[in-house]
Amino acid sequence: MPLRAHLSDIVGDAFASLGLDRRFGEVVPASRPQFGDFQCNGAMAAAREAGRPPREIAADVAGIVARAPEVAGVDVAGPGFINITVADDTLGNLLDGLCADARLGVPTVDRPQVVVVDYGGPNVAKPMHVGHLRSTIIGDSVARIFGFVGHRVIRDPHFGDWGLQMGMLIVELERRRPDLPYFDPDYTGPYPQEPPVTLDDLQEMYPEVAARCADDPEWAAKARRATVELQQGRPGYRALWEHMVKVSQESQRRDFADLGVTFDVWYSESTVHDRVGPMIERLRRGGFVEESDGALIVRVDLPDDTRELPPLILVTSDGGYLYGTTDLATIEMRVEDMGAELVLYVVDARQSDHFEQVFRAARKTGIAPPDVGLEHIAFGTMNGPDGKPFKTREGGVVRLRDLIEMVTAAADKRLTEAEIARDYPPEERERIAQQVGLAALKFGDLINNRVSDYVFDLERFTSFEGKTGPYLQYGAVRIKSILRNAADRGFEPGPIVAPTVDAERTLMLWLTRLPDVVTRALELRAPNGIAEFAYELTSVFNRFYERCHIIGETDPGRRASWLSLVRLTLDEISLLLGLLGIDVPDRM
Ligand code: ARG
Repeated sequence: MPLRAHLSDIVGDAFASLGLDRRFGEVVPASRPQFGDFQCNGAMAAAREAGRPPREIAADVAGIVARAPEVAGVDVAGPGFINITVADDTLGNLLDGLCADARLGVPTVDRPQVVVVDYGGPNVAKPMHVGHLRSTIIGDSVARIFGFVGHRVIRDPHFGDWGLQMGMLIVELERRRPDLPYFDPDYTGPYPQEPPVTLDDLQEMYPEVAARCADDPEWAAKARRATVELQQGRPGYRALWEHMVKVSQESQRRDFADLGVTFDVWYSESTVHDRVGPMIERLRRGGFVEESDGALIVRVDLPDDTRELPPLILVTSDGGYLYGTTDLATIEMRVEDMGAELVLYVVDARQSDHFEQVFRAARKTGIAPPDVGLEHIAFGTMNGPDGKPFKTREGGVVRLRDLIEMVTAAADKRLTEAEIARDYPPEERERIAQQVGLAALKFGDLINNRVSDYVFDLERFTSFEGKTGPYLQYGAVRIKSILRNAADRGFEPGPIVAPTVDAERTLMLWLTRLPDVVTRALELRAPNGIAEFAYELTSVFNRFYERCHIIGETDPGRRASWLSLVRLTLDEISLLLGLLGIDVPDRM
């Protein structure tokens, strides 16, 4: 059992033996280490309930807790804080156990669930941009955290391939190339195997036609009509659509691969197309659907709402399905076919109304049974140095591809400056630059509370100093080389013994915290606590390494014990970075 939980039990027992609620016994790491390792603040709350002075309760509890062999000292401070110092032997034994545990003390969940993580979310013909970058980085980390604690995770990018942008691209290509067979209603096939457009064509066409549709209602109507015809199965449009989806997804899959991100299913909005008709029919029969100006809607407002939430539009007046329609049918598919018990949508905070509408509609109609969780894991914006959403110098959207290239180049420059990996073979050095670049990008994002906006600062993110991915990576690589150097001298890790040096003891205490860190990240669906702890653990380790001269230590038992601490630290940091999707090179 994790140390903090174990001590909470001991202190909880003490409260219980005084006839008080054992909940009061919860301990937390001490806010000021000079007073002890852990503290319990429960006496104050217990005092209110019991009508006794808090210090008196604290003293009684302390008297009982002091008898536990795991406890070396207890005292009462201030209004009734109970400060606890753990026995050194206990610490040594505990750490020894951690070394033997492949999970490093992190428990698996009692009830594993099928968890669908919906993240990435690129759209056909639109290059992936910084919004998709955050979704991909955060979603990947959340999926890793859920998987590590034992949930069965299904990762799904939910490609956007069924919306109005498809109709826009169809009418735009028809304007440019009316001769293509896709547009001839009398043509009966077969359609050409070769795609009529490249991804570059699509990316050039999309902003142009989007602007025209915004200015010209007639074009907008045309695009809507083409979207409906596509959805209803017009053969030429479907054939063209398949080409457009294919060229887009090829490039997007490459982007994901370069980020070290993968999915278990590669579904999209159109995956559920065949479910939509029957779903609407069922909702209609169930009395959930209303007609409004020719459209079919589901009302989702509730009596207690403080602001108006518009209804979810299922079918537009011209017969088209929208983003929310496919999202609702996707919930049905995830519940019925995939057995989802929890669905996490890692999507920009600006879509929170959309998800509120979809979730409410899913609850109201029974598409999502009450025991299936639906959560919008929202995140803020990545801003440029000017504090506004990150744009190219020309004011355009920053493509993910360009961003990856930018951080890799910056990482490469940093390696040169720091004379790291200088004489390595070119391929290895290139791989290290990629790994460092990705670490910079991912850590720079994940260290922030996900709902906050943050500023993309290439200089800071790629630095080998401070709270950065490269700093942590470099720290972990250095630990690997400490272990290699020791092994070269024939020094191997051995049983962990009770600490004798402060910096050593502090490291040991920190190493016991991992389970709480992971559990909290899981509960909050937020990786920033993991990023923060990885940084702190690295700093605590550095202080230990300064004070404890491993190679020079003459007591072989102590040296072996220290080497085990070194290895355990490496294992924890590698695990933490792994949960953030960051690789540690073998050497740098
Ligand atoms: N394609 C969407 C976008 O670019 C994100 C998809 C998110 N997932 C979902 N199930 N709606 O904004």
